[in-house]
Amino acid sequence: MDNAGARTSADLEIQDRRSGRSYPIELIDGALPAAELRVIKQNPDDFGLLSYDPSFGSTVACRSKITFVDGERGVLEYRGYPIQQLAENCSFLEVAYLLAEGTAPTAAQLRDWQAELAQAAPPRPELLNLIAALPTSAHPMSTLTAAVAAMGAVYSDARQISTPAERRVHAIRLIAQVPGLAAAAFRRHQGLPVLDAGGNLDYTARFLELLFEPGRVQQSEIVRRALDVLFILHADHEQNCSTSVVRAVSSAGSDPYAVVSAGVAALSGPLHGGANEQVLEMLREIQAGQDLEAFLAQVRSGRRRLMGFGHRVYKTYDPRARIIQQVAGQVFEVLGKNPLIDLATQLEQAALADDYFVQRRLYPNVDFYSGLIYEAMGLPAEMFPVLFAVARTTGWVAHWMEAEADPERRIARPRQIYTGPHELQYQSPS
Ligand code: CMC
Repeated sequence: MDNAGARTSADLEIQDRRSGRSYPIELIDGALPAAELRVIKQNPDDFGLLSYDPSFGSTVACRSKITFVDGERGVLEYRGYPIQQLAENCSFLEVAYLLAEGTAPTAAQLRDWQAELAQAAPPRPELLNLIAALPTSAHPMSTLTAAVAAMGAVYSDARQISTPAERRVHAIRLIAQVPGLAAAAFRRHQGLPVLDAGGNLDYTARFLELLFEPGRVQQSEIVRRALDVLFILHADHEQNCSTSVVRAVSSAGSDPYAVVSAGVAALSGPLHGGANEQVLEMLREIQAGQDLEAFLAQVRSGRRRLMGFGHRVYKTYDPRARIIQQVAGQVFEVLGKNPLIDLATQLEQAALADDYFVQRRLYPNVDFYSGLIYEAMGLPAEMFPVLFAVARTTGWVAHWMEAEADPERRIARPRQIYTGPHELQYQSPS
C-alpha cells in the first residue's frame, strides 16, 4: 500500500480502496480541511476528490469570533457572553456595539454609539420615495430588500470598503437606517404616512415611534423592553442561511448594501425568518377547526411541517425560545393575552411528547412564540420577518466586517456534481 503524503503525525488516514493508496490528513481545529481531499485522485490529471454537502450542514466555511452556538447543550453566546446574561442586563444598543465593535462598550462609548446611530438614522428622501412608489400590496420584506439595496445607489461612497474606517461608515449607516426603512415599509403596507421619530435617542423607542402613532404600545416601557430583548435574541446566530448568504455575496467584493439586502432576501423565506409568520397561520388554521391530533398526523406523515419547531443546529430546546416565553407573559400582562398562546402551549406539549419529534430531536425554536408577541403589539404577520431583519442587520454587518478583514477569504465558489447530458448535437430550430 502506497503512502501519498510524507507527514507522519496525521490525525486521520483515508484509505482509497480503488487505488490501494492511503492519505494522511491533519485536521484544522478539529475539522477536515476539504481541500486536502484533492490529493486523492484516480488519475494524475483529475481535479481530485470533492466533498458533497448540498446544504452545507457539515461544512465549516469560515473562522469567526462573533457568535458561538452549541446545539447539543443549547448554548448561545455573543462574543463570549451567554445570551441569558445579555437579554437580562443589556440594551439592544449595547449588544449591537458588542457584536459590531467586538467588545462590550464603556459608558462613554455607549453614549457616543447611541448619538452616532441617532445622527445617521434618518433615511435619505430618495429611499422613502422609492418605498412610497411601491404598491401597498407589496410584502414589507420585498420592500425592505429593495430599499436596503437602493442605499447602494444613493450613497456615492458605497463601494469604498477597503479600510476599517470606510467599512465602519457603512456599518453605522445600516444599523441606524434599517429600522427607519422597515417602519416606512410597514406604514406603506398599511397605506399610512411615514412618521417622524422626534429625536428620540433610544434605538427601540425610536423604532416604536416610527411604527405607531402615540398610544399604549408606544408608551409602555414593558413593551419597549420586550422589543429590545427580542432584538437582542435575534441579533446574530453564526452561519445561518442569511448570514452565509451575506458572507458569500461579500466575498465577491459587492457593496455592503447589496450584501445586506441579500441577507434580507434570504431571511424572507418561510424556513428562515418567515417562520414566525407561518406559526401564526398554522395556529389560526388549527383554531379554525382543525383537530390538533389530525394536524400532528399530517406532520408525522411528512405532508407538512410544524412551523417554529426544529433547527439545523439545536438538537435541544433553543435557549432563545425559553426567554421569549417569559417575555410573552410580560407583554400579555400589559396588552392583553393573545388568545392563541394557550393553543401554542398545547401544541408544544403535544409535540414534545410525540415520538416523531422526540426521535428527530425537534424542539421549539426562536420563532415559535415571537409572532404571538408581535401580534399582541398590533403588528400584522407580514411584519414579523421585518422585525427579525432589523435585529439581524447588526449580525450581518458584524459578519461582513469580519469577512472583509479576513486574510484567508476567497470568493465563495462551490462545485457541483453535473448530472446533465454531454456532447449533444445542437439542431437549429427549423
Ligand atoms: N416539522 C416536522 N418535521 C420536521 C421539522 C418540523 N418543523 N423540522 C425538521 N423535521 C424533520 C424532517 O422532516 C426530517 O425528517 P426525516 O429525517 O424523517 O426526513 C428531520 O426532522 C430532520 O429535518 P431536516 O429538514 O433535515 O432539518 P434541517 O436542519 O434541514 O432543517 C429547519 C431545519 C429549521 C429548516 C427545519 O427544522 C424546519 O423546516 N422547521 C420549521 C421552520 C422553522 O421553524 N424555521 C425557523 C428556524 S429558526 C430561525 C431561523 O433560522 O430563521
